[in-house]
Amino acid sequence: MYILGIETSCDETAASIIKADSRGKMVVLSNIISSQIDIHKKYGGVIPEVAAREHILNILPVIHESLEKANIKPEKIDLIAVTKGPGLITSLIVGSETARTLSYAWEKPLIGINHIEGHIYSNFIDLPKPLKFPTLILTVSGGHTILVIMHGHNKYKIIGETLDDAAGEAYDKGAKMLSLGYPGGPIISKLASEYAKSGQKSELTFPRPMLNVNNFNFSFSGLKTSLLYQLKKDKRWKTRINEYCFAYQEAIIDILVKKTLKAAKKFNIKTIMLAGGVSANSALRQKFIKELDKKHVFLVPDLKYTTDNASMIAAAAYYKYQNLKNKKIPILKVDANYKLS
Ligand code: KG4
Ligand code: ZN
Repeated sequence: MYILGIETSCDETAASIIKADSRGKMVVLSNIISSQIDIHKKYGGVIPEVAAREHILNILPVIHESLEKANIKPEKIDLIAVTKGPGLITSLIVGSETARTLSYAWEKPLIGINHIEGHIYSNFIDLPKPLKFPTLILTVSGGHTILVIMHGHNKYKIIGETLDDAAGEAYDKGAKMLSLGYPGGPIISKLASEYAKSGQKSELTFPRPMLNVNNFNFSFSGLKTSLLYQLKKDKRWKTRINEYCFAYQEAIIDILVKKTLKAAKKFNIKTIMLAGGVSANSALRQKFIKELDKKHVFLVPDLKYTTDNASMIAAAAYYKYQNLKNKKIPILKVDANYKLS
């Protein structure tokens, strides 16, 4: 079957066509993303009203391009999938109303997908062999830090989440304090790896909040405050930016890896997956590979599917649609705080 995915939850307008066979093997025929990063850079973060306006301008050309690139006509589409939430409500509405209109005009079924579920399913695109459940997924993005156990397709149990900032937010806010611009993840990651390559040993220390508590929740706001105070005290911080990036990133990664491995042990997990924008981080991937033992399967999405895209929405829709077959698909209603369940 052919699925058109649409994603507009934050600052990327995205559309994708995937082809899925009856065994769940998926091929991405197009994955079009129109990024607004250059626009939001000026403000140091995403301005919701500006994002919604850009989505309105971009959505139809992006969908058109996804069909053209996949070389398929709307008649061949079997299912339309769109992000229903969580996200910025004004951005979500542009995607959902467009999807609703196309569903009506083309007479195709329409399904709403949870954005986090989409990130999780980015791991199922190009999956080499069927997966062993239960799977533990660390979803780390600009808006979310969630540890989820999946016992089967579309069945989730959240075992931990952030109580304040998300891991991506820690990168973005840290980068702002270091005057490095937006988004913070890629630049902090680059400067941190330059420092690591230099072979120097940093004496900077950052806290690891909630590392030793008896649950799987996270907290990153204390880490951010620690950076703020250390920068205030250090008159020469501008000459040590790479070192600050390195030590700050080490703290984020240390918390993420240790908590995930603790959960994997406790819940007897077979497969560990990463998802979301922060999962693009190479130091994070490397630390997992180093610390995992051989009995675990470790999966990460292809880099192009780590940050927001619509192929992941179409991939999640394939499984959700199989589960809903012969049942009525719920009417699409966007929800800015849509919970994964
Ligand atoms: O998944 P995503 O595109 O959007 C949300 O759903 O939030 O994630 C964006 C986040 C931003 O906070 C960005 O700084 C972070 O992912 N990010 C990274 C890297 N690339 C993007 N963080 C760490 N290392 C990276 N290489
Ligand atoms: Zn996302």
